[in-house]
Amino acid sequence: MALDRTSVPNDLSAFWMPFTANRQFKQEPRMLVSAKDMRYRTADGREVLDGTAGLWCCNAGHARPKIVQAIQEQVGVLDYAPAFQMGHPLAFELANRVRDLAPEPFEHVFFANSGSEAVDTALKIALAYHRAKGHGERTRLIGRERGYHGVGFGGISVGGIVNNRKVFGSMLTGVDHLPHTHLAENAFTRGQPEHGANLADELERIVALHGPETVAAVIVEPMAGSTGVLLPPKGYLERLREITAKHGILLIFDEVITGFGRLGSAFAAEHFGVMPDMITCAKGLTNGVIPMGAVLATADIHDAFMTGLEHMIELFHGYTYSGNPVASAAGIATLETYKEEGLFERAAELAPYWEDAIHSLKGLPHVIDIRNMGLIGAIELEPIAGQPTKRAFQAFLDAYEKGCMIRTTGDIIALSPPLIIEKSHIDELFGTLSDVLKALD
Ligand SMILES: Cc1ncc(COP(=O)(O)O)c(C=O)c1O
Repeated sequence: MALDRTSVPNDLSAFWMPFTANRQFKQEPRMLVSAKDMRYRTADGREVLDGTAGLWCCNAGHARPKIVQAIQEQVGVLDYAPAFQMGHPLAFELANRVRDLAPEPFEHVFFANSGSEAVDTALKIALAYHRAKGHGERTRLIGRERGYHGVGFGGISVGGIVNNRKVFGSMLTGVDHLPHTHLAENAFTRGQPEHGANLADELERIVALHGPETVAAVIVEPMAGSTGVLLPPKGYLERLREITAKHGILLIFDEVITGFGRLGSAFAAEHFGVMPDMITCAKGLTNGVIPMGAVLATADIHDAFMTGLEHMIELFHGYTYSGNPVASAAGIATLETYKEEGLFERAAELAPYWEDAIHSLKGLPHVIDIRNMGLIGAIELEPIAGQPTKRAFQAFLDAYEKGCMIRTTGDIIALSPPLIIEKSHIDELFGTLSDVLKALD
């Protein structure tokens, strides 16, 4: 029997959906059945403009021919190869291409299958690196309030989202958190805010409290996406870099969202001119089409492991699907698509138009802040008293009904369209959002 890809099954009970209000969804399902370029098609036959690149991942848009073809061909040639003690050419080729795209200090690429796995991999590499260097006492990890680093135990421990943490026990021990950088005085800033660089100095306090020689790594998103597009204040990342370097602490940038062109450069590290010691990425690496994540490491970090007997495994870590052949093929085709179409440059060129469009919503009902950078933006709404998140969730439902996919987190609308977006799409997106906001309770 041919698989029916477009009719909604009568029984929706078996699938326990991730990060979803399951009961609400199953009463009013929002089903997507196909996608092309900038638009999804729904099960009820409507087109929906993608204002979120799926989940911040389809940077080249949907069903792009080169990526589709690469996957189709690869699966018939080499569908799977053991990831441990065996190799296949495409994983090496993709690693080379990621290295060539990345800023200079990053010479090595460790593959995972998601952002969460990339984060846990980077944290483990940080701990093992210090041990390899003879500093096994460096075991503490420092994250940040309102940080999102996926859902593994490492990621939720260094992450700073209360609901993602509070019901999951004690998590990793020896973790501390910087304050988040989101200040009311920066409301309606275009690009990087003026106030808050001094919040990086909190790192000195935390490090002094624990003793610098006990701290392994600091992990932050250079621009926090998932908690509502929180931009780094001017000078903040530079200060974090200074303090970590001074104390021999590794700095990890979680670029799962900012990697692959979102801010108009390959990585945010380049955009901000601040180089961490490791970068985690995922999402845009394969245009979201096949799961894949990666950690980019400097030669110093990688080489610290390349000691001892040569027949011995150097790092006891990896996944069955690290560098999976089909994912690697998708990754190579994705990077080629970005390059051939100049999509990172396109994001940079469109950013001012995007900025003007999103800030044109200032003054609409309930809007208490708007912020943006590259092709990313957020509109923060005043929460309904006693019912946090409800107003933004209603905006999400209304926008979907009116043909636009937006994303909400708390009472913040977060937008991150595919980088192939046209000015006419930007007008359509913000025109619809304007109507939605005007009609909200
Ligand atoms: C900064 C950051 N890190 C990690 C993750 C987790 O990625 P995944 O959902 O692929 O595990 C995300 C997902 O949005 C993210 O934004």
